[in-house]
Amino acid sequence: MHEPTITVLSGDGIGPEIMSATIEVIKTAQQITQTNYHFVPMAFGGCSIDQFGEPLTDALLAQVKRSDAVLLAAVGGPKWDHYDVRPEAGLLGLRAAMKVYANLRPTKITAAAVTRSPLKAEIAQNTNFMIVRELTSGIYFGKPRHYSTDQALDTMVYNRSEINRIMTYAFKLAQQRDRHVTVVDKANVLATSKLWRDVAEEIHPQYPEITLDFEYVDAAAMKIVKSPQQFDVIVTSNLFGDILSDEAAAITGSIGTIPSESVSETGPNLYEPIHGSAPDIAGQNIADPIGMINSAVLMLQHTFNDQATANVIERAMAAVLQQDQPVDLGGQLNTMAFTQRICAQMQQNSVKVAPDYVQD
Ligand code: NAD
Ligand code: IPM
Ligand code: MN
Repeated sequence: MHEPTITVLSGDGIGPEIMSATIEVIKTAQQITQTNYHFVPMAFGGCSIDQFGEPLTDALLAQVKRSDAVLLAAVGGPKWDHYDVRPEAGLLGLRAAMKVYANLRPTKITAAAVTRSPLKAEIAQNTNFMIVRELTSGIYFGKPRHYSTDQALDTMVYNRSEINRIMTYAFKLAQQRDRHVTVVDKANVLATSKLWRDVAEEIHPQYPEITLDFEYVDAAAMKIVKSPQQFDVIVTSNLFGDILSDEAAAITGSIGTIPSESVSETGPNLYEPIHGSAPDIAGQNIADPIGMINSAVLMLQHTFNDQATANVIERAMAAVLQQDQPVDLGGQLNTMAFTQRICAQMQQNSVKVAPDYVQD
């Protein structure tokens, strides 16, 4: 029988801390739901440069092909910032090789989280939108690209087919949500943005139940903190999605809590928190593992259709968060203490429904 296989990339900085927390949580949940996942840890990013001289090895790509899902923490750090090939280039290479064209980055404020938001409660409450970030094209990948002492060049290219693919994803997602799509672009300046608008308007008639509007990225950045409730699905290019998702994360109180799912055209999906390797707090046991754990929850739900294990984790984490929070959210719980509390809570919850596990 095929055992579900997960490639585990802890990466750099706080990566190993939040990944081991997450694996511990999944393994404890597995015991309760009697599921079996096979974890294959591999070096990726800066640690792979240190070990093998490159951030993304062929061995890793081969392993990814044999996997059902890839779970990634974060890569990068000051040690490798001046290398010719940085850990971040490995990340872009992995995303391209996996063809994960749609990166979903949620911002959702629960009633409990309203008080942790830096925004006023009446503005933060009921915020619930999804940024659909195009992940395998745009200025991150466009050629030509060069860098010299006197001049540097980046190129932003989008083909109609790439825009059509991400736009279609956004419309379909909106059908399952509040049926509203906002295209965020810079169509008053950029040619690529004009094509994004053309494509959005062309495919909109296929989704008559969806309302569509357009915002320039500068105004959208302002409205995300002024009136975040106006958004349901935001669809945008690779660079704009990167920037706006960190801004949106701040509404929740910390970037450490936000997961993401990157959907592949062909192979396994990639699950990673949206934050980076946080070198400023690495090794201190204070990193927030919520974004990483929630990424694993999305993996259980969407790759493995394992709602039972996902529920066990989510219920326990919600219960712990009612009592105390990780340090970045203003609480007392360091990474390991938070993890222990979730595991203990899962076990306690399971005793209540023993001997037969009952799915809720
Ligand atoms: P960052 O997201 O790592 O950190 C920004 C701030 O948020 C820092 O103050 C950090 O301490 C805090 N933070 C981030 N995650 C946290 C968590 N889980 N718990 C508590 N606090 C957290 O962004 P940065 O500092 O701009 O980048 C650091 C490195 O990470 C760079 O090398 C960058 O290229 C890389 N990076 C990698 C990824 C990725 O692998 N997906 C994403 C973003 C940045
Ligand atoms: C992210 C990161 C990456 C990106 C970097 C590290 C290449 O910021 O995942 O948000 O820009 O996509
Ligand atoms: Mn980013």
